[in-house]
Amino acid sequence: MNSSQKNKLRKLRQGLDDSTNIYRLIHGAADRWKDLYIDRIGDYLLIQSAQSLNEKQKKISQALSYKLKLKGTYYKQLDRQIQKTSNKESAPQLIAGIKAPESFEVNELAVRYQLSFNQGYSIGLFLDMRSNRQRLIKNLIEPGFSIFDRSSGIPSILNTFSYTCSLSVCAAKIGAVTTNVDLSKKYLDWGRKNFEINNLNPNDHDFIYGDTFDWMKRLKKKGKLYDLVILDPPTFSRSKKSGLFQAKQHYGMLANAASKLVQKNGIILACCNAATLSLSNFKCNVRQGILRGGRKIIQGVHTSQPLDFPTTLDEPAHLKSYWLRLN
Ligand SMILES: C[S@@+](CC[C@H](N)C(=O)[O-])C[C@H]1O[C@@H](n2cnc3c(N)ncnc32)[C@H](O)[C@@H]1O
Repeated sequence: MNSSQKNKLRKLRQGLDDSTNIYRLIHGAADRWKDLYIDRIGDYLLIQSAQSLNEKQKKISQALSYKLKLKGTYYKQLDRQIQKTSNKESAPQLIAGIKAPESFEVNELAVRYQLSFNQGYSIGLFLDMRSNRQRLIKNLIEPGFSIFDRSSGIPSILNTFSYTCSLSVCAAKIGAVTTNVDLSKKYLDWGRKNFEINNLNPNDHDFIYGDTFDWMKRLKKKGKLYDLVILDPPTFSRSKKSGLFQAKQHYGMLANAASKLVQKNGIILACCNAATLSLSNFKCNVRQGILRGGRKIIQGVHTSQPLDFPTTLDEPAHLKSYWLRLN
């Protein structure tokens, strides 16, 4: 990390960045707190660990909450294997201070999101995807690699596995029209709400309840093409329509299907959280899937996690994000 990045991180974690009140304060071993993960979620602290907190961990949590003048502290048992998104029992539990409302809003990069501690394991926003949301807002992946060519009309996005549509909201903020696909009606409704609270009309966008694999076939039959196709599947999923999906085995197939829906010079964003799939194998699977689809890759870059998710050799990045422009 260079000194300007260190300054940015310090400002963010001290709560001095007015545009963002949701970020990671402690990211395990890289922040010298092995097995401990603490997030600021607006007015609340969310602690995650695999084992119950020890005295030292409780003390640092209290100190952070005090310093940031937070209202309440929640605790969630970390479960990397099964992301039980709908199970109430896996939801964060209040352990100190005042209970959060059923749902509440946070700001990230001056975009608003509705969150809840009462909807299972996940709270409505994946914090480690912030840099990807920022790339969409800025329409820039890295210098010399923009996402949309604004001179060629209104950009279109297919956001598969869209969850609460946060990536789509960022793209819509810069004028894109989005199509969101998810197996959960609840998350799509949540996504609509995220559009509304950002003064974006959800009726200008598509929200498709269904299986991504099934819908990618249907959209292809309809001749649809998009400037950006986003793939961010869970590590493991099962659907009635397409059966079992395991990122480690099936990512190539997913990238292949996506490549058929990308415009000329359009982009695929392929993300993956599977710890058992190495970065090199992931990139290889994605590339092979695209090439099998008869497309050429003309630009590609793997981007790193946000600064508040630092890594070590022992704890490498869990999130892999690969941006590819196709011919
Ligand atoms: C990791 S989350 C996606 C996070 C999202 N990209 C974001 O950044 O907010 C995975 C989502 O995939 C959805 N899902 C799981 N299997 C699916 C399938 N076969 N088709 C469509 N959506 C699916 C889940 O309901 C969940 O919302």
